[in-house]
Amino acid sequence: MKVSPSILAMDFSKKEEEILKIDQTDCEYIHLDVMDGIFVPNVTFDYNLIKDLNSKKIYDTHLMIEKPLSVINKYLEVSDYVTFHLEAEAKENILSFLKNKGNKKIGLSIKPNTKVEELNDFLEYLDLVLVMSVEPGFGGQKFMDIALDKIKYLKEQKTKKGYHYLIEVDGGINHETSKLCKEVGCEIVVAGTYIFKHQNYQEQINNLR
Ligand code: DX5
Ligand code: ZN
Repeated sequence: MKVSPSILAMDFSKKEEEILKIDQTDCEYIHLDVMDGIFVPNVTFDYNLIKDLNSKKIYDTHLMIEKPLSVINKYLEVSDYVTFHLEAEAKENILSFLKNKGNKKIGLSIKPNTKVEELNDFLEYLDLVLVMSVEPGFGGQKFMDIALDKIKYLKEQKTKKGYHYLIEVDGGINHETSKLCKEVGCEIVVAGTYIFKHQNYQEQINNLR
C-alpha cells in the first residue's frame, strides 16, 4: 500500500517543519486538498501554496473546486498528479480534455453518493481514480463503507480491461480502514488526521501499509 499524507491536517503555522517531517518518512506521495468554498463548504489553499511547498514527494493534488478545467493547467505546473471531481464539470468537457491530455497525469474523483459506473467512459484515459470515503470538505470524518464496493469494481475493471489508473481512497483512513481498502484492491491511501495528529509520522505510515 502506498501512502499519501494529506497536509490539510498539518499545523500550518509550522509548515516548513511539517513538510520536512513528511519528507523524512518513506511515504510516496503528498496529498494537497484544494477547496474553493463553492464545490465544498470550506476554503483551503491554491497553487501558490503548492508552488512554494518544497517537498521531495510526488505531488498528488486533489481539486475540490467548481469548473476545475478552467484552472487545471496552473495546478499541473506545480503538481505531478492533478485529480478533479466528476461532479464539478460537464461530462463532454471532461472527455475532450482527457482525450487531449497527452502525458499529463490526471485523476478523477467521485463523492460518496456518485455511482462508480459513471466513471466508465473515462477509465481508459485516467492515470488515477480517487474514491471519496467521506463527503469532501473536511478532515477527521468517519470512513464510509460504500467506498469498498467502488474500489473492488475499479480493480476488476482495471484487471479485465488492462487500464493503467492507480486506485486511491480518501477520507477516514486509519490502520483498520486501510486494511479493508487494501483487501479489495486499493493501491494508495490518503490520510490526514491519522498521520498528522500523532507524534511519529513514520510509525503511522507503517501502520497504514
Ligand atoms: C477531505 C479531503 C481529505 C482529508 C482527509 O475532503 O479530501 O484529503 O484531508 O482527512 P482525514 O484523513 O482526516 O479523513
Ligand atoms: Zn483529498
